Amino acid sequence: MTQHIFVLNGPNLNLLGTREPEIYGKDTLDDIHQRMISAAPDAEITFLQTNSEGQLVDWVQQASREASALILNAGAYTHTSIAVHDALRACKIPVIEVHLSNPAAREAFRETNYISPCASGTIAGFGAHGYLMALDAALQMTA
Ligand code: DQA
Repeated sequence: MTQHIFVLNGPNLNLLGTREPEIYGKDTLDDIHQRMISAAPDAEITFLQTNSEGQLVDWVQQASREASALILNAGAYTHTSIAVHDALRACKIPVIEVHLSNPAAREAFRETNYISPCASGTIAGFGAHGYLMALDAALQMTA
């Protein structure tokens, strides 16, 4: 059966490539999407980005109904959103948290994390390559 992987990206990740490239790298979100498609040609990848918390909640719920695994970079909602946390608690598929940077090595306000307690695992600090690592993990977990 074809594996269906949802990849959800939260606020400001639409600016990748130009947003603080010394922290987040020079790859755009579309570059990352294309790399994931090339890395897993047999999988169906639904790759989305939103700046809205409610939209992210709706897509987590949709992923739970339709996908085999969810890769999530919730951006700043990682550190603030009980709504996304609750949606993930209700999620029936494996969740892999990804961050381009390593929030644990940055400002103190990034130490609060509402996503990690709901995730099978977290990949952080490896830039765009972290998405490919998360994809590898998602495919292994749902094989
Ligand atoms: C991020 C880390 C978050 O702390 C930050 O708010 C982001 C991006 C990352 O991918 O490194 O927007 O999720």
